[in-house]
Amino acid sequence: MNSSLPTPNSGLNRFMDRRGFLRTSAKAGAGLYLATSKSAIAQAENPNRVINVAMVGCGAQGDRLRVSASKLGPVMNWVAVCDIWNYNRRAFAQHLKYENKDQVGGPINEYTDITEMLAKETKLDAIFIATPDFLHAPYTRLGLEAGKSVYCEKMMTNTIEAARDMVLAQRQTGGILQIGHQRHSNPRYQHVRDNILDKEHLIGRVTHCYGQWNRGVSASQPLGTPKNQEIPAADLAKFGYNSMEEFRNWRWFAKYGGGPIADLGAHQIDLFNWFFHARPTSVMATGGVDYYDGTDGKAKFELPDNVMALYEYNLPTGPMRCYYQVLTTTGSQGYYEKLMGIDGTVLISESLSSNQVYREPNAPDWMHYTEGANPLIARSAAAPVYNKIWEKPKPWTRPKKWMDTNGVADVRESKALDPFELPVQLDVPPHTPHVANFIEAVRRNDLNLLNCPVQQAYDTCVTVLKCYDSIKSGSKYVFKPEDFNV
Ligand SMILES: NC(=O)c1ccc[n+]([C@@H]2O[C@H](COP(=O)([O-])OP(=O)(O)OC[C@H]3O[C@@H](n4cnc5c(N)ncnc54)[C@H](O)[C@@H]3O)[C@@H](O)[C@H]2O)c1
Repeated sequence: MNSSLPTPNSGLNRFMDRRGFLRTSAKAGAGLYLATSKSAIAQAENPNRVINVAMVGCGAQGDRLRVSASKLGPVMNWVAVCDIWNYNRRAFAQHLKYENKDQVGGPINEYTDITEMLAKETKLDAIFIATPDFLHAPYTRLGLEAGKSVYCEKMMTNTIEAARDMVLAQRQTGGILQIGHQRHSNPRYQHVRDNILDKEHLIGRVTHCYGQWNRGVSASQPLGTPKNQEIPAADLAKFGYNSMEEFRNWRWFAKYGGGPIADLGAHQIDLFNWFFHARPTSVMATGGVDYYDGTDGKAKFELPDNVMALYEYNLPTGPMRCYYQVLTTTGSQGYYEKLMGIDGTVLISESLSSNQVYREPNAPDWMHYTEGANPLIARSAAAPVYNKIWEKPKPWTRPKKWMDTNGVADVRESKALDPFELPVQLDVPPHTPHVANFIEAVRRNDLNLLNCPVQQAYDTCVTVLKCYDSIKSGSKYVFKPEDFNV
């Protein structure tokens, strides 16, 4: 445990609150967020100015950020887009031109080269980077050195050396750099961390966590290129790509990405650190290219398509072990995260499919945390809820009669858990609060407002990528303090 790790600001920015994006099941819940948001108020440079922004990388995630940002109203103004692929860039610019009609307005300038864009767009305040991972570090440095604030997508990048350079670029320029681990700004996740864990210790000492992101094989079919939309080979080479196939399917290649454990696992492994203000002491991982080996017309992944990793933490409360798996060969039970304490369990995912809190039968009463409580920490579960997530979940049922009368858990069957739910919901796309948090930091020119500053993301990058050391060596990787120092 490293208790000196920075605690990110948990406040939601004020325009998020004003626009009513947060929904809680009780008035008290809304008050909770207004109260925490006070900590976000800092000395303003000009807290009401409209921020001029550009998107670099207009693919699937760039588009998701555009839509997420559109929910914030006229706090930002798109002035430029940059993408080496005309096909994506044109479509993105068209969307923006349409949206800008009703907002601040102005032309959208299009670029293929970020260097040219940064040189020409003198009014630009901030850039979003949603390119393949290997470009995150050089483009972040270019942006920061040009005096722009940067929102860079997760995973920070695909090598620890490049991630170090991002930390250094931020330190050398003093610029605002947010990394796109959007769960840090999600009020549901903040509620779990700030209230259930830190403040109320509702689930008691947490000894185990679990996270998974499982996808079936059909989710990973190769991406083709629409007719006549190829980028000339010389232009691809200029930007570091070997072919159109690699450009389109960059996630398969170690040169451009970090493999599924970085692509998907980064979101969830990050939570083990973030929820507990901690860094792991070791990781033991196994994985391999189990399916996508290039035979029988299948894609050929260079990095493991299936990874299972066991992290150990040494918290002030005692040891904690966290198991994580990413599978690209079966979608069994999808994706979620689970925190298991001696008094209860929290089950959460970015989608609302997992939203439960279970109380252990012998835990202290939770009545003062539920209906009528101020703030509301957990609410009684709405029917139907599920006892445990088996392959075929069963609706919640009362324990058998003999269990009621004897009331003792034994090796055959545990006593049933008391079901509750998280009382906080989000009515906007999951990236919206994180973009809002970034814009707030830029408007106020205050790094300390960021919910995912660069050192935190660096910790995650190291935590994730060291899996590969363990996989390669076949033994446990023990983290050294210097692994996290830049
Ligand atoms: N936070 C999240 O939930 C989340 C979700 C998905 C993806 N991501 C991240 O977003 C990033 C992009 O992923 P994606 O799924 O959108 O990929 P994508 O392939 O759909 O889009 C990448 C875009 O970048 C463009 N591009 C490539 N090289 C470029 C260059 N040199 N200059 C400018 N543009 C360039 C491509 O033409 C494409 O439009 C990745 O880092 C990924 O990890 C984050």
